Amino acid sequence: ASYDMGGHDTYMHKEISEQPDAVDRVLRGRIDDRFSTVHLGGLNLDPREARGIRRVKILGCGTSYHAGLIGASLIEGMARIPADAEPASEFRYRNPVVDPDTLYIAVSQSGETYDVLAAVQELKRKGARVLGVVNVVGSAIAREADGGVYVHAGPEVCVVSTKCFTNTVVAFALLAVHLGRIRDLSVTDGKRIIEGLRRLPAQIEEILKGEEDIKELAAQYADAKSMMFIGRVRGYPVALEASLKLKEISYIHAEAYPASELKHGPLALIEPAMPTVAIVPDDDLLEKNRAALEEIKARSGRILAVAHREQEKADHTIIVPKNEDELDPILMGIPLQLLAYHTALALGRDIDKPRNLAKSVTVE
Ligand code: G6P
Repeated sequence: ASYDMGGHDTYMHKEISEQPDAVDRVLRGRIDDRFSTVHLGGLNLDPREARGIRRVKILGCGTSYHAGLIGASLIEGMARIPADAEPASEFRYRNPVVDPDTLYIAVSQSGETYDVLAAVQELKRKGARVLGVVNVVGSAIAREADGGVYVHAGPEVCVVSTKCFTNTVVAFALLAVHLGRIRDLSVTDGKRIIEGLRRLPAQIEEILKGEEDIKELAAQYADAKSMMFIGRVRGYPVALEASLKLKEISYIHAEAYPASELKHGPLALIEPAMPTVAIVPDDDLLEKNRAALEEIKARSGRILAVAHREQEKADHTIIVPKNEDELDPILMGIPLQLLAYHTALALGRDIDKPRNLAKSVTVE
């Protein structure tokens, strides 16, 4: 496929820039203010069935798996259904117990990833109910699933996923409100999340305005041989995705760890040549996250924080607008897309077509 680059030098830059509109699209027509809930036309799940779900298992690969990790925490947090995400291929090969009371959700931008499709087919063979959270309409996974939510990110051409990741997480937030309002999410909380979702496009726009500053930061970190990404609970999948993005397009080695796990091993790696990107939201874990920054600073590590306010222990802070705690991960990921982008650009990489990677992997 080839689409107009619309004045951008790369598809990745175009797709990052499109996120305010893309998020607007995934929300459009789905919010019901009267009952502070969300309608999802293609879900194919009646309220009685929704109340009977005992677990949610989300399956995907790569960036879609990371979106699924955030999706699981949104569903568990709002609908109070135990939920987790797992790479689709791992799930398939460990001969999992397939449980009739579990709702399985397959996540895929392309809807064609073999590992995900094969997991869906295996689940269907065993009588499970499978929904899809998919971008490409009419794709194999969308057709195979019993129902689902289209992500409406629009065509994504760059091999690495940006706008589709963001939209997939927003789609999960919609699903979480929908399931939550059938179960125990209060009217007030439903309304609070819906209002938060509506603020996202303008807040993303605001983050994108900071691109020049992020570009300067990227120039300062581009000489790193390796980078550490840390986050806690909601921030951890953000760290995972940001580290994947950096690896994919800049070829800089990166790892992501829960901040609390630093002391159990990776702290040994911290030195001036190993910078850390830390996700530090203003939520109930702020003090815990600050303690991690102190531990890193005490080992002379350079720190770039993504936070809602300046972090003293960090060498640099990228400040993002605050939303509801649950939705903060969506915004905190966006400056890190730009950081990966400008790092790769500074290193002269082929951003839209990184070596050894394909947009969709349709073989095993
Ligand atoms: C490939 C791409 C990744 C993508 C993954 C899953 O590995 O390079 O960017 O996240 O496939 O793709 P999907 O289309 O299923 O989301």
